[in-house]
Amino acid sequence: MTELRGVHSIDHFALFVPSLEEAEFFYNNFGLTTIKTEKGLQLKAADGHTWARILPAERKSLAYMSFLCYPQDYNALMQQVRDSGAEPEFLDNDGFWFSDPDGNWLNIKPGKKTIPDAKRIVPLPPTPADRRGTVTRDAVKKVTPYRLSHILLFSADVPRSIRFYQQALGLNLSDFSQDIIAFMHARHGCDHHLVAFAKSAGKGFHHAAWEVDSIDEVGNGAVQMSAAGFKDGWGTGRHCLGSNYFHYVRDPWGSFFEYSAEIDFISANANWPAGDFPPENSLYLWGPDVPASFIHNTEIEPQTPA
Ligand SMILES: [Fe+2]
Repeated sequence: MTELRGVHSIDHFALFVPSLEEAEFFYNNFGLTTIKTEKGLQLKAADGHTWARILPAERKSLAYMSFLCYPQDYNALMQQVRDSGAEPEFLDNDGFWFSDPDGNWLNIKPGKKTIPDAKRIVPLPPTPADRRGTVTRDAVKKVTPYRLSHILLFSADVPRSIRFYQQALGLNLSDFSQDIIAFMHARHGCDHHLVAFAKSAGKGFHHAAWEVDSIDEVGNGAVQMSAAGFKDGWGTGRHCLGSNYFHYVRDPWGSFFEYSAEIDFISANANWPAGDFPPENSLYLWGPDVPASFIHNTEIEPQTPA
């Protein structure tokens, strides 16, 4: 059996939303640069890459995810997708398009890796005695996330999603909890998760996570969004699987954008032992109780619990 090839990163994801105006306000306040285009909006992070396209539609949903691979892996990846039974599929100027088992449109094309090969560490200098350890509140700089970290989708069948993303896209399983949640990384050097899946009655976009420099920036981001009127979400806390500090901010349509710092990084060819963790050990180490709205798929049942 020949070894599987794998995508190395996400180029961008595209979201349908009911209001571009509300979207622009939300994403700008989150700290991303929004660019108006003929079709909608583009979202750029501090690393200069355009990570998302926002398109108008009646309801919020994932439009598609676009993955990148090394040119020498492109043909083999197309074959892997076909061997996995994905259909429909077609080729156009943007690469190879196909649908995953939940019905999400995916795209693969050759291109430069968008995520770093190694963990980006921003050292926090210790504060010596007789110095103030932090600035005053009015001196806090706007939080502007450095790059996209990962995307979490609801899935009607998490084990089926794991199999497909392993066999077709060559992602590796990082960790999972029964058939409830699974985290997957790209094999060429990647955060603990590039794509993750959570069990639901059907598909749905749950959140996109954005890397910030430190837990301080996670907290400052939460304050920044609260001041802009976006007080709902979950956090601040620390995850178990992935180890990141997090704060999720609920968007106007019931999904989330996450500030994330210090997520585990899995180097190319590292031997990462994927574990099956019991649910009570899989979600968070510390932080507030999980609100009911956090695990609610508004694409199936629009009414969001408080
Ligand atoms: Fe996340």
